[in-house]
Amino acid sequence: MSALPEPFTLRDARHVDLDAVAALERLSFPIPWKREYFEVEVGASWRFNRVALSGGSLAAYVFCAFAGGEVHVNKIAVAPDFRRLGVASALMDEVFAFSARVHAEEIFLEVRFSNQPARTFYAGLGFTEAGRRGRYYLDGEDALVMVRKMGGPRRLDDPPAMKGDSGR
Ligand SMILES: CC(C)(COP(=O)(O)OP(=O)(O)OC[C@H]1O[C@@H](n2cnc3c(N)ncnc32)[C@H](O)[C@@H]1OP(=O)(O)O)[C@@H](O)C(=O)NCCC(=O)NCCS
Repeated sequence: MSALPEPFTLRDARHVDLDAVAALERLSFPIPWKREYFEVEVGASWRFNRVALSGGSLAAYVFCAFAGGEVHVNKIAVAPDFRRLGVASALMDEVFAFSARVHAEEIFLEVRFSNQPARTFYAGLGFTEAGRRGRYYLDGEDALVMVRKMGGPRRLDDPPAMKGDSGR
C-alpha cells in the first residue's frame, strides 16, 4: 500500500473535471481520448473513475470499467510536474481495492509496446505480460496486454462500490 504524499487528495471524477482531464490526456498520450469519451465514462455504471487533486487542480486521473469479472484500466495519467511521487501508485491502490470489492478475477490493460516507463510502472505493481495486440493503436503500434490476478483476501462483507454515480 503506498501512502499518497501531501498535499494530494483523491475523489471520484466529476463532469466538472473533464476539461482538465482532457487537457492532461492530450499532454500524456500521442493519440488522446476525446473529452466526450471521458464524459460517457463518468456517467456510466460499473465504473471506477478517480482523480487526484493538488491545491484544487487536477494532478492525475484513472478511469476503469468492470465487466465480465474483469476490471479494465482504460486510462491513467499523471501531470508531468507530479510524476515519480507515487500518485499513480496511490490511484492503482484504489483500483486494487475496488477490484477486490467487486470480486474481480483480474485487472487488465493495454499499454503501448514502446511505453517502457508505463511497463516498468505496471510490472512493479504485479502486472505480467499476457499477450500482444497487433496494430492496436491508430498509428499502427502494437499494444502489450498486462494482467494482474486478484488472488488476495476479499472483503465479502463490503457491498460492491458502484461508481456510476460518480458524475453527481
Ligand atoms: C506511467 C505514469 C502513470 C506513472 O505515474 P507516476 O505517478 O509517476 O508513478 P509512481 O510515482 O507511482 O511510480 C511508481 C514506480 O513506477 C516506476 N516508474 C514510474 N515512472 C517511471 C519512469 N518514467 N521510468 C521508469 N520507472 C518508472 C518506478 O518504479 C516508480 O517507483 P520509483 O519512483 O520509486 O522509482 C506516468 O508516467 C504517466 O502519466 N505517463 C503518461 C501516461 C501513460 O503512459 N499512462 C499509462 C498508459 S498505459
